[in-house]
Amino acid sequence: MDAVPAAAAVAKGGRDRGTEFIAVARTTDLDPGRARVIHLRGIEIALFNIDGAFYAVDNLCPHEGGPLAAGTVREKVLTCPWHRWQFHLETGRSPMNPAVEVRTYPVQIEDEQIKIGLVIDL
Ligand code: FES
Repeated sequence: MDAVPAAAAVAKGGRDRGTEFIAVARTTDLDPGRARVIHLRGIEIALFNIDGAFYAVDNLCPHEGGPLAAGTVREKVLTCPWHRWQFHLETGRSPMNPAVEVRTYPVQIEDEQIKIGLVIDL
């Protein structure tokens, strides 16, 4: 997977914000078609390997908190195991209702390490 450049932006309050990429696993730790839950600084993240490309989204479904890492993925669309809401892994948006989305996180692969990006104050 291509590296995603670190993003930087100025938040509404005028504070500089950036993205810190944190190593969470090795690429060999997660086989294609599998997912795992990552606990990262108090956030529960579902990490997916889809044909060798890695995607990270909040593990808790925005509907009623279902475990998205236990969902099924078809053509990069994740289906929640509880009530079948769906989210595109690249955008987090529901293909059925654009007003519904789950938070996504940028992923970098560097030296076989999977890194997830979290927004930080600079
Ligand atoms: S908790 Fe995910 S669809 Fe209801």
